[in-house]
Amino acid sequence: MAEIVVVENKRAGGELVASTIRRLIEAKADTVLGLATGSTPLPVYAALAQSLRKDPMDVSRVRGFALDEYVGLPAGHSESYRTVITRDVVRPLGLTPANIYVPNGDTTSLEHAGSDYERALEAAGGVDLQILGIGRTGHLGFNEPGSSFASLTRVKTLAPKSRADNARFFASPDDVPMHCITQGLGTIRRARHLVLLAFGAEKAAAIHAAVEGPVTASQPGSAIQLHEHVTVVLDEPAAAELSNLDYYRYIWANKPVWQGI
Ligand code: PGA
Repeated sequence: MAEIVVVENKRAGGELVASTIRRLIEAKADTVLGLATGSTPLPVYAALAQSLRKDPMDVSRVRGFALDEYVGLPAGHSESYRTVITRDVVRPLGLTPANIYVPNGDTTSLEHAGSDYERALEAAGGVDLQILGIGRTGHLGFNEPGSSFASLTRVKTLAPKSRADNARFFASPDDVPMHCITQGLGTIRRARHLVLLAFGAEKAAAIHAAVEGPVTASQPGSAIQLHEHVTVVLDEPAAAELSNLDYYRYIWANKPVWQGI
């Protein structure tokens, strides 16, 4: 069962995950982080950046793999996930740019971009800790409903709801790309620790389906139920539809401190 942690707010969630990442890097200097974009993981990156400013440590060997990328945005576009990861993660944390991988959404090399990415992940030894958000459709990465639990990095068509949700980052809804290249659910499931964060009432239904619903490709988030080490970090509104919430709180309250998340 996934471990469910209900935090007071986004900031507390960010601090909890950031402290886990710090401990990971202390134990393994070339830790491989799975990096998510979107609004949800920002408190994690902000908390980690703050912690590194306060108490510096060597992060020069840390490696990072983004979950996904839009297809067809010009290089350097302000909303390409390469740009976003550089702005929100690499610079604030002081990571080494050459150690950061983002799927290649250039239309000229799409045919082999997925397999190239899988090879790079394998060569790095796989992801130690994968940060995840979840879409209102239940998507992980850009694996929309129907995505195979065995899927690997490949090109997908974005669901209309996901394009609408991401329109806030673009000048017009029509500017949101139609296609993306995303790690598959099979790729994500290979990471050794999944940390799924969700904040706000608009995520409550997707979280309920992911944590307590049937395991089904119609709810990509439910793939977490097939993984042996998952932490789900939620604020109260995102946790509101969970039926066994009291039990999750009981488990967390009685957890031995040494276990971490
Ligand atoms: P958000 O996106 O963090 O911006 O809500 C999450 C997702 O689409 O996976």
